[in-house]
Amino acid sequence: MAYSQATVVIGGLLHVPIIIGVFWLFQSYVAKRSGSGSTTNARPSTSAAKVTASGSTPKAPTSKSTHAAVPVNTYKPKAPFLGTVLENYSLLKEGAIGRVNHITFDLAGGNPQLEYIEGQSIGIIPAGEDAKGKPHKIRLYSIASTRHGDNYAGNTVSLCVRQLQYEKDGTTIDGVCSTYLCDIKPGSKVKITGPVGKEMLLPEDEEANIIMLATGTGIAPMRAYLRRMFEPKEREKNGWNFQGNAWLFMGAPKTANLLYDSDFEWYKTNFPNNFRYTKAISREQKNSKGGRMYIQDRVLEHADEIFGMIENPKTHIYLCGLKGMEPGIDEAMTTAAAAKGIKWSELRPTLKKAGRWHVETY
Ligand code: FAD
Ligand code: A2P
Repeated sequence: MAYSQATVVIGGLLHVPIIIGVFWLFQSYVAKRSGSGSTTNARPSTSAAKVTASGSTPKAPTSKSTHAAVPVNTYKPKAPFLGTVLENYSLLKEGAIGRVNHITFDLAGGNPQLEYIEGQSIGIIPAGEDAKGKPHKIRLYSIASTRHGDNYAGNTVSLCVRQLQYEKDGTTIDGVCSTYLCDIKPGSKVKITGPVGKEMLLPEDEEANIIMLATGTGIAPMRAYLRRMFEPKEREKNGWNFQGNAWLFMGAPKTANLLYDSDFEWYKTNFPNNFRYTKAISREQKNSKGGRMYIQDRVLEHADEIFGMIENPKTHIYLCGLKGMEPGIDEAMTTAAAAKGIKWSELRPTLKKAGRWHVETY
């Protein structure tokens, strides 16, 4: 009896480490399933960190972590992809100033395939040589199409290019690459690099609010965003059911210079609860001081609503186009913020840190 009691006690004690081991394994399994372990399969959150109007509570940037898989530099300047021009047409109406073209390239047959997402840019190497007999350097252009392309086949890219022209010592100088692109004929081969850029990417959140401030060809990435949000075939293709508010402020010198205007008007008519479109036509409209109407004047007119939106952590602001518009936008935001007792100089870096303030000017 004494022998068997001792056996039972010793046998029981010997099982304790086994039970602890099994319990530990079970606990770590549960932890992994619930996401608190180190190997969760959960998709990273894309909702931006909350930023209050006073600029407090910034969390670490959320969008950047989800951008790791975005394609960059698939094709480099030393070994560019040779794209074929599919179409090249003017975006301007009779009486417009200058030349702005929509140009589409075929990317099919690339190995690897040149893939991109909305908000990225590509590089173009113009044919020919510079004054020193060297090959031309690349110029960057914002992509104006969604990743599915204008034809939804997923193997084209479109650009919106203004021909640079300026006067020097009484002669008109044409920009090298922009003239090359505006003149290029369908069927021509063009050296393409990239894609590049993670600054102008859209959040994945279907309920995000997107405020867009564009001048001239700065509309290119916005066109891609708006197609992703509202173009019926594109929506079918991308399965992204945008439900937030998108608000485009577009600056152009004349009505005839408005780019993709009929598409945006169509979105406005068909998605009135999700899309607002405000134009600043500098040479036809006057601001409150009697000067040219710029988008920053429109921002001031709608300051209350804009700042109301910014208080929502789901709101992102995108600025693209002329570098010269940045000080004007900053000034307008400073004035508008001050009216609400907010310091724009403090709020802007907070928004930037939260991945909600996106700027690409040139
Ligand atoms: P160039 O032959 O390179 O001439 C430009 C040079 O001319 C300037 O560097 C300057 O030295 C001189 N110059 C220019 N203006 C004047 C002037 N008024 N007086 C005297 N000298 C002057 N462009 C678009 O059209 N669409 C886009 O979507 C677009 N996206 C861009 C995105 C990014 C990220 C960047 C950085 C630029 C973008 N650009 C875009 C601009 C584009 O990259 C080129 O800079 C532009 O097309 C001019 O290139 P070019 O070769 O024609 O001019
Ligand atoms: P403007 O040229 O009348 O002064 P585009 O590229 O087609 O010329 O369009 C650019 C638009 O941006 C034009 O309406 C232009 O006005 C306007 N613009 C020029 N400078 C600024 C600036 N500093 N801030 C905001 N908009 C500007």
